[in-house]
Amino acid sequence: MSEIYPVSDDWKKKAFVTAEGYTAAYAQSVRDPDTFWREEAKRLDWMTPFTKVKNTSFHEADFGIKWFEDGALNVSANCIDRHLPERKDDIAIIWEGDDPSQQRRITFGELHTEVCLMANALKALGAQKGDRITIYMPMIPEAAMAMLACTRIGVIHSIVFGGFSPEALAGRIQDCDSNIVITADAGMRGGKLVPLKHNVDAALTHCASVKACLVIRHVGNDIDMQDRRDVWYHDVRKTVPCDCAPEIMGAEDPLFILYTSGSTGKPKGVLHTTGGYLVWAAMTHHYVFNYTPGEIYWCAADIGWVTGHSYVVYGPLANGATTVMFEGVPNYPDHSRFWQIVDRHQVNIFYGAPTALRSLMREGDDWVKKTSRSSLRLLGSVGEPINPEAWEWYYHVVGEGRCPIVDTYWQTETGATMMTPLPGAHALKPGAASKPMFGVQPVLVDGDGTLLEGATDGNLCMIDSWPGQMRSVWGDHDRFFQTYFTTYPGKYFTGDGCRRDADGDYWITGRVDDVINVSGHRMGTAEVESALVAHAKVAEAAVVGFPHDIKGQGIYAYVTLNANEVESADIRADLIKWVRHEIGPIATPDVIHFAPGLPKTRSGKIMRRILRKIAEGDVSNLGDISTLADPSVVENLVQSRSTAG
Ligand code: WT7
Repeated sequence: MSEIYPVSDDWKKKAFVTAEGYTAAYAQSVRDPDTFWREEAKRLDWMTPFTKVKNTSFHEADFGIKWFEDGALNVSANCIDRHLPERKDDIAIIWEGDDPSQQRRITFGELHTEVCLMANALKALGAQKGDRITIYMPMIPEAAMAMLACTRIGVIHSIVFGGFSPEALAGRIQDCDSNIVITADAGMRGGKLVPLKHNVDAALTHCASVKACLVIRHVGNDIDMQDRRDVWYHDVRKTVPCDCAPEIMGAEDPLFILYTSGSTGKPKGVLHTTGGYLVWAAMTHHYVFNYTPGEIYWCAADIGWVTGHSYVVYGPLANGATTVMFEGVPNYPDHSRFWQIVDRHQVNIFYGAPTALRSLMREGDDWVKKTSRSSLRLLGSVGEPINPEAWEWYYHVVGEGRCPIVDTYWQTETGATMMTPLPGAHALKPGAASKPMFGVQPVLVDGDGTLLEGATDGNLCMIDSWPGQMRSVWGDHDRFFQTYFTTYPGKYFTGDGCRRDADGDYWITGRVDDVINVSGHRMGTAEVESALVAHAKVAEAAVVGFPHDIKGQGIYAYVTLNANEVESADIRADLIKWVRHEIGPIATPDVIHFAPGLPKTRSGKIMRRILRKIAEGDVSNLGDISTLADPSVVENLVQSRSTAG
């Protein structure tokens, strides 16, 4: 059992929420959600006040999720306009380029003008309320401006991470029928050029719905511009007015779609709506980071992931915070980069992913210690379980024992943080997500759905709605209900395993479905499998996760080649290249294990439990294999494991 770190006296004094405050507010949020959320929603400006607060059911008969349903507001007005009287000249966005010599600082006043210009540019290209616009951008301020410009005119944005391949980009554009794509000539990561516009060109050969592509000049590399489709932003920008009235949006109008992997099928378009999402993002950003005006806040996530949506852009800007955007990677030009940025911009709050911390920890403490970091007062972790060793390193070496760590557990589907220790309220336990956020009602159930009480392990569900919950799967509402509410009827099932300890603290133990978490990025094993079987030489594939020192989980692929093919290092290299091409580098298999046969039940179902054990190297304990159609397959896989690579 590792150490427990109590709340310091300093934090007890300055925190928005104390231990007693948390208990009282949590109890109220559950007992009387209408009163609690009516009060919390006051942190936003509403164009039409709502009268109804909560109207939600997880049950099939009356299934539906609505919050603040008769209210109206605009997200960009809440993130920008309402701060102008007091903060026009305060910095909204600090940008640091991949190249350490590049920086930009953008005030709320400038952000207002830029967002209006981009909104008008989109209108000039034909964008209308309700359209879907795909954003495929590097981490530059124009990415945040593009998001806010969409919200200003009621367009639904769908951001696709710049590391995804043209194929993956095309699939996401097609699924939501985007009519416009916003991109840049290229991005820079670790000194390498990411050819974004080139990838868009390749994707758009399969996307008839796209009528226009707005291109931001960032790197200045040569690109092809297609007549009548592609437009340089710096050209249109000169031709449009610099004011744009914010569209009045219903609280339940769609705000954005973000594709994420599930245990089956192709990625789902997770749909978030306007009012509940923004209340939730703003409120959690306020309490979790104890954000105080004037502080410099940095979330190191990419806007291609939900963390970038809620905690680089919407949460902080709704709260009038100064948010840092970083284009690059933690280890370029060297392993001090994160902490150099902290010093250069006097960052007070740093929020990052365990995988980055583990990769830096491996390089030794000197890279950290040669920087000051004296501005830091709070640290955050997100995206995957943080192992106690990395936690202790983060706490003692990076934070010098001075900064609480908020280990925030949440999902693309949940919009923002669901469980975390609050810095002034809860003692820290390395690796624990600790306590539910206000309004969040976690329960643990066994495989049959029976509620488990007290200290126990179980499957993590939520028994009631919270404002930032996803509302649907784009284009497939039934898939939404089927995916999340039928495993344990009447409950939202997270897909995560979880332990509750004797103090009532929650510890996320990882996914219990066929989703794996690679470097904090979510990957459906089914997606990698379908990419592999699409290769001409592959007959069958099964993909599982295995423990990986840096990535958290790695990708282990069992591949059966067609009968006439012979296993070789060349085919292995080719398969790896193929998967990167089909999905993107984040899906690169770490291991390809050629398997003449896969363990299957007599009904033909692949026994993944056994494949996971073999991938983990835990072959002494394979459990019952008597139901297999051909038990000798397992023996063969165990023996060939050492030659996999
Ligand atoms: C999955 C969601 C959190 C937004 C970014 C990732 C895992 C996330 C934690 C944490 C343990 C975590 C869960 C979850 N996860 N945060 N603090 N501790 N596990 O969002 O891509 O939708 O992935 O990430 O398994 O289900 P996502």
